[in-house]
Amino acid sequence: MNYKAFKNLLLAITLILPNLLLAQNRVSIIPKPVKEKITSGSFVLNSKTQIKATSDLNNEVEYFIEQLKTSTGIELNSSSSSSSIELKTSRSLENKYGKEAYKLNITQNKITVSGGSKTGIFYGLQTLLQLMPEHVYSRVNIKKEKLSIPCVDILDYPRFGWRGFMLDASRSFQPVEYVKKTLDLMAMHKMNVLHWHLTDDHGWRIEIKSHPELTQVAAFRNQPNYPVKGEVNPYGGYYTQKQIREIIKYAEKLHITIVPEVDLPGHSSALLGAIPEMGCNDVERQDHIQYFRDYPMRNTNFIKHKGSNVVCAGKESVYPIINDILNEIIDLFPSEYIHIGGDEVKKKWWESCPHCQKRAKDEGLKDMDELQAYFIKRLEKMVVNRGRKLIGWDEILRGGLSPTASVMGWRGMKGAEKSIKQGRKTVVASNKGYYIQRNQTENPYHPQGWPRVTTAKHIYEYNPIPEGLTKEQEKLILGIQTSVWTPFMNKNGLWDIAIYPRNCALSEAAWTQRDLKDWNDFESRMKNHLKRLDYKGVSYWRENAKVIGTWDTQDLWDENTILKYDVSNEIKEVGVYFFLGDVKDGAEIIVDRAVILKDGKQIASDKHLGYISKDKNHERIYFIDIQKIDTDAKYELQLKVKGTLGKVSKGEFVVLHP
Ligand code: ACM
Ligand code: ZN
Repeated sequence: MNYKAFKNLLLAITLILPNLLLAQNRVSIIPKPVKEKITSGSFVLNSKTQIKATSDLNNEVEYFIEQLKTSTGIELNSSSSSSSIELKTSRSLENKYGKEAYKLNITQNKITVSGGSKTGIFYGLQTLLQLMPEHVYSRVNIKKEKLSIPCVDILDYPRFGWRGFMLDASRSFQPVEYVKKTLDLMAMHKMNVLHWHLTDDHGWRIEIKSHPELTQVAAFRNQPNYPVKGEVNPYGGYYTQKQIREIIKYAEKLHITIVPEVDLPGHSSALLGAIPEMGCNDVERQDHIQYFRDYPMRNTNFIKHKGSNVVCAGKESVYPIINDILNEIIDLFPSEYIHIGGDEVKKKWWESCPHCQKRAKDEGLKDMDELQAYFIKRLEKMVVNRGRKLIGWDEILRGGLSPTASVMGWRGMKGAEKSIKQGRKTVVASNKGYYIQRNQTENPYHPQGWPRVTTAKHIYEYNPIPEGLTKEQEKLILGIQTSVWTPFMNKNGLWDIAIYPRNCALSEAAWTQRDLKDWNDFESRMKNHLKRLDYKGVSYWRENAKVIGTWDTQDLWDENTILKYDVSNEIKEVGVYFFLGDVKDGAEIIVDRAVILKDGKQIASDKHLGYISKDKNHERIYFIDIQKIDTDAKYELQLKVKGTLGKVSKGEFVVLHP
C-alpha cells in the first residue's frame, strides 16, 4: 500500500469509526434480534412523518401512534399514499421464518416494517421503539419536536413460540391496572403468553356466575396485621367477568394470549371454603371456611398445614360444578390451552375418603395416582368437548395421562423431560430455572423472597432443553416461562422487584437464538434498557444503595417527628426510587409515610406503615415514582415517624436508585 492509500484508509477509519461506535451505543434491543446491521445516517421522525398501512393493520398503527403521542407529543398521521413509514405483511417472510418474523429497514428517508403477519409487524414496531431515545417510553409528555433513529437493517424471528410469564393472582391480588402494565411490559419484550394463576389456597379470583359463592366467600381472607398480634384485616379481591373481558381484549391488541389456570384438584382451599361439599368428608367440612379465611399470606407452605385442600375425586357431584366453572372460563378466554393445575395433590385425603375409595374400586384404579389420572381425564373431556386443549403441571403425568394433553414442567427439568419423551407438547417452567419469587441477590436490602438465589443471569443461561433429545423431540418444547408466586408481595413495587429485570432476561432466553445469546452483551444492552423501564415507572430491582442520612432515637420521638433529608444529589433521573431504613441495634421504628418535596412542594409520596428493626423488617421500602426531572430543583425526602418500640435506636436511611 502506498502512502496516499494508507492515509486515505486512516482517514476513512477515523471518519467511520466514531459513527460506528456511536451507532453501536445507540442500539440496545432486548431481546436481541437475529440479524442487525447498522448502516450510516439516521432517520428523523417528526410530526410531519406519515405512516402507511392497509386497514387491517389499524390496531398496530394506532398502538404506535399512541406510544409516541403520549411520551413526546409527536402526532404521526396515517396516510394511504406517500409516506415515510410503511407497514406491510409479507407472505415470503411468513413462509421462510414464520408469522412472528419481521424485517425492519431504516434509511434516511424511509422506514419499512414487514411482518410474517400482524404479529410480526407489531414486533417490528417494538424494535423500532427501542431504536428511539428512551424517553419514548415516558408515561408523561416530555415534549420533543423530533426523534433521531439510526439507520439499520434488521431481520428477526423467535426461538420459541411460547414466551411466557405466570402471574399468581391468588396469594396476592393484582389490580386490573397492574395486570395491564404487566401486559404492556410483556409486549415490549416480545413475550406472548400470560399464564394467569387465578385460583389457589389463598383466594378465588375470578367471578363465576353459576357459583357466585366462590367470590362471595373465597375472594377475601383474614390477613394478620403485622406486628400487632391477633389483629387481622380482610385481604383480597377478584376480577369480574367484565374486567376479565377487558383485560383479554387489551392483551389481544398486544398480541398476547392469556392462558387461564384453575388449580384442581389440589391447592383448593379457597374453592372448598366456598363449596365445602366438594371436599372429601364431613369432618373437615366444618373447618373449611375458617381454615381458608385464616390462612395467612406469609405462610407459604400449605403442605405442612393440617387441613385438606383437595377436591374429592369420588363424589359424582363435584364434576358438574367443575364443568360449570370450566365452561365459564372457556366462554371468557379464547386461548387454545386451558390450564387445570394438577400440582401437589395431597392424596392422603383421598386415601381415607370412602367416596374416593369407592370410585377407585368401581373404576378398577390401582392407586391414588390412577385416581388423579381419572380426575384429570374427566376434566380433559370437558375442555376438549369445547374445542380446547388441556395443559397442567407435570404431576398430571402420574397414573397415565391422555395422549392429547400437554404438560408444564416445573419440578426441575424432570417433568418436562418425561413429558417430551412421551411425545407431548411441553412448556418448560422449571422451579430451578425460572421461579422468580426467589431471592435474586444476597443484597440485604432485597425484600424477602423464597430461598435459593435466582439471578437474572441464571435465568438467562438456564438450559431449557433436556439432554439427549432428538431434533423432533426438541420441537415438542413449546417454549419457556418464568413464574412468580406472590405470597410475599402485595403491591406494585414488590411485584415489580420480583419480575424485573428477570423477565428481561427471560425474554431474551425465549426469543433470541441460542448461539446469539451472550450474557455480557445482554448486560451492556440492559444499561439503556433499564432507562426505558425507568420511564415506564417499573420499580425493577437495583443493587446500588447509598446512605442518605442517619437517625438517633435519643431525640425522643413522638407522633409528630419528621425526618428530613436532602436528596437533590440522588434524584437526578426519572425512575422509581426505593427509600428504606436500616437499624443496626436497638428499637424498632415505625414510619407512617415517605414524601418527596421539590422546591418545598410535595410531588410524590408513599403512605403505609413501615416497620424497621434489627431482626425483622416489614413493608420497609417506600417507593417514590419520579416521572419528570428538574435538574436544578432541590429535592427533599421527609419521613413521618409514627413511633418507636423498645429502647434507644440508631439507624440510617438508604436510597436504592435507578
Ligand atoms: C407449583 O409450583 N406448585 C407448580
Ligand atoms: Zn374423596
